[in-house]
Amino acid sequence: MVASDAKMAAQEWSVWYGATQALRAITLDILPREILGIIGPANSGKTSFLRSLNRMGELNPRFRCAGRIWLDGKDLYQGLDSQQVRCRVGIVFALPLPLPLSIRENVVYGPRVRGIRDRRRLDQLLEQSLRAASLWDEVKDRLDLPAMRLSGGQQQRLCIARTLAMEPEVILFDEPCSGLDPISTAKVEETMVQLKSRYTMVLVTNNTKQAARVSDRVAFFLMGELIELDRTGVMFTTPRDSRTNDYLTGRFG
Ligand SMILES: Nc1ncnc2c1ncn2[C@@H]1O[C@H](COP(=O)(O)OP(=O)(O)OP(=O)(O)O)[C@@H](O)[C@H]1O
Ligand SMILES: [Mg+2]
Repeated sequence: MVASDAKMAAQEWSVWYGATQALRAITLDILPREILGIIGPANSGKTSFLRSLNRMGELNPRFRCAGRIWLDGKDLYQGLDSQQVRCRVGIVFALPLPLPLSIRENVVYGPRVRGIRDRRRLDQLLEQSLRAASLWDEVKDRLDLPAMRLSGGQQQRLCIARTLAMEPEVILFDEPCSGLDPISTAKVEETMVQLKSRYTMVLVTNNTKQAARVSDRVAFFLMGELIELDRTGVMFTTPRDSRTNDYLTGRFG
């Protein structure tokens, strides 16, 4: 059953690419201002689920889906426009891919495309997004330098700032630290925790320790199925399903 106060919810959600089924009747809810971690081995459907939540999956012509996804009680696939959904539900990918532009232009590019032209409003979005992404102090004196000159960790926080500049309600992260060193990873994790007061977040990670550090609840996916979902403390100490336990103790994955 889907909780009525959920920010988003999936109900019997299945996905196929051609004949390959990637997700099998996933039902879960995402609560307002939580970080929901999604863990599971390769090919378990984590990315497919994440991309279902902002209608990016359907950009692949072989994508097919069944079931329903809700955003604030509205049907994501029938009641809402896909462009609007992608603004309301932002995504940050594994590899930071800044545009070959300045730091400033990277952040204001999206808002400009959305039609915001007022210089003061763009400056305000720039500062507020960089601050929220914990990057402002490091770049405020060099906003017009190429974004490519930033370190990998700074580039990933810049990508978070770009997503924030679109003023989303939900932020999806697909293994956002997979290419980062431990210090940069810690900064991105800190940023996510700080963002929790204002945003609902879903974090897909291959790193179970990361899920344990930052998630409020964790879902374990295996071969396209949701095996178990629980509060982080419970999941990591007393999982109910033996497959979750096997994964968490490193028996496979
Ligand atoms: N674009 C695609 N075309 C065809 N099959 C795909 C596509 N993307 C994913 N799949 C298949 O769907 C299944 C789930 O893949 P998905 O990428 O969602 O898993 P994942 O849990 O994110 O894996 P990983 O940890 O490797 O990122 C896999 O069997 C995969 O081969
Ligand atoms: Mg993936």
